[in-house]
Amino acid sequence: MTERTSIHGQWSSRLIFVLAAAGSAVGLGNIWKFPYITGEYGGGAFVLVYLLCIAVIGLPVMMVEILLGRRGRQSPINTMKTLAKEENRTRLWSWIGWSGVLSGFLILSFYSVIAGWALAYVFKAVSGTFNGITAAQVGDLFGAHVGSWPLVLLWHTVFILMTVFVVARGVRAGLEKAVTYLMPLLLALLLVLVGYSMAEGDFARGFSFLFSPDFKKVFYTCSVEGGIESCAFNGEPLLTAMGHAFFTLSLGMGAIMVYGSYMPKRTSITGSALLIVFMDTLVALLAGLAIFPLVFGNNLEPGAGPGLIFQTLPIAFGAMTGGQLFGTLFFVLLVFAAWTSSISLVEPAVAWLVENRGIRRRHAAAWLGFGCWLLGLGTVFSFNLMSGEQYHIAGKTVFDLLDFITTNILLPVGGLAMALFTGWFASRRMSESELGLPDPWFSIWWFVVRFITPVGVLIIFLHAIGVL
Ligand code: TRP
Repeated sequence: MTERTSIHGQWSSRLIFVLAAAGSAVGLGNIWKFPYITGEYGGGAFVLVYLLCIAVIGLPVMMVEILLGRRGRQSPINTMKTLAKEENRTRLWSWIGWSGVLSGFLILSFYSVIAGWALAYVFKAVSGTFNGITAAQVGDLFGAHVGSWPLVLLWHTVFILMTVFVVARGVRAGLEKAVTYLMPLLLALLLVLVGYSMAEGDFARGFSFLFSPDFKKVFYTCSVEGGIESCAFNGEPLLTAMGHAFFTLSLGMGAIMVYGSYMPKRTSITGSALLIVFMDTLVALLAGLAIFPLVFGNNLEPGAGPGLIFQTLPIAFGAMTGGQLFGTLFFVLLVFAAWTSSISLVEPAVAWLVENRGIRRRHAAAWLGFGCWLLGLGTVFSFNLMSGEQYHIAGKTVFDLLDFITTNILLPVGGLAMALFTGWFASRRMSESELGLPDPWFSIWWFVVRFITPVGVLIIFLHAIGVL
C-alpha cells in the first residue's frame, strides 16, 4: 500500500491534530445551542438521549471520519472517490463529500450570524453595559440587538471576514497558535461560571433539570379531554438530540475527515477521537451547569430559544466582582471557539477547489465566504424583518429551516453513509490497518460501525417521520 501525503500540508504534531479537531468540535454548538435546545426540549431526558447518541453514534462515526480522511489524504470529495476506487466501489460515494460541502456552506451561513451576536456582546461587556443589569433589562437588550438588522448584518460580515482570513492563510498557519492557548482558557472560565452559578443561582434546580430525566414530559405530547389524558409519541426531540450529536462533534460533513487528512501517520485515531469527544461533552455539560441555575434563580424561561445564553449570562457578569473582565473574556473566548469551528466548515470545499480547479486558496476562501455571507442574510432577517408568520416556510423561519435541514437531516445522512461505506463496502483490512487497534477492541468497534450505528440512525429517522 502506497503512503499518500496531503498537498495541503500536515499538522505539526499529534497534539495539534487533537486541538484542531477539538477546536472544530467545541463551538457555539456547545455553549449556545446545547443549552437552548435542552431548555426547549425540557431537560434531563433529552440530555440523556443526546449523551447516548454521542456514545453509540458520535464516537464511532468520529473514528470513521478520521480514518477515511487519513487514508485518503485529500478533500472529502476526492478522498471518497479515491477510497471507493481502491475498494472497487462506485465513484458515487464521492457524493458524501458533495453533500458535506453543501451542509458546510448552509451551516456557516447561520453560524456566522450567531457568532456575530457574540462579537457584539464582547463590546457590550467591555463597555460595562451589563453592570447591575436585571433579568428584564437583559431580555430587552437582547431583543434590541437582534431586532436591529443593520447591526446584526455588520457583525455577521465581520465574522465571515475573520473566517475567510484564517482559511486563506491555510488552516495550519492560521490555526495552530490560536487553539493551543484558547481552549484551556475557555475551560477555566467555564469553571469560574459554574462556581458562580453554584453560589448564586438555583443550582439544585438547574442540576436536576439537566440530569433527572422525565421521558413522558420530553417525548410525549399529552392532552386531557373529558378528564381522560391521551398521549402521543413525539419524534422531534429524538431527532434533534441525534442531530445535535452530529452538529456538536462536527460530524457528517467531512470537517473531521479533512482534518484527519492532515494528521500524522503515527497518531492513534482511537485515542484522539476519545479525547475530542470527551472535551466536547465536558464543555457542553459545563455550559449547561453554568446557565440553568441562573435561569431558575432569576425566574427566566428555559425554553427562551436561541437567545438563552445572551439573556442569562450577562446577569451573572453584571452582579459578580470582576464581572466586566470575566464577561469580556467569556465572549471573546466564545468568539474564538466559534472561529476555530467555522473554518472547518469551509475547509472541505476550499481543499476541493484547490485540488480540482487549481484555484488559489485565498480566492477559494473569499468566494465561499461571499456566498455564505449572502445566504446568511436569510438568518440575519429571521430575527427582525422576516420574523413574522408570513415569512415562515413550513412553519419555520429561514434560520430554523436551515438549522433543521442541515443538523437533523444532512449530517446524520452523511454520517450514516460514511459508516455504511466503511463497514459494508470497504474491506475490513482498510479499517484494521488505519486504526491499528488490538482485538477485542477492533472487533467491537467493527460490530458497532456495521450494525449499531446505522441501525441507531435509521430507527431515529423512522421515529421522526412517525413510522415507528
Ligand atoms: N461543532 C461545531 C460546534 O459545535 C460546529 C461545526 C464546525 C460543525 N464544523 C462542523 C457542525 C461540521 C457540523 C459539521 O459549534
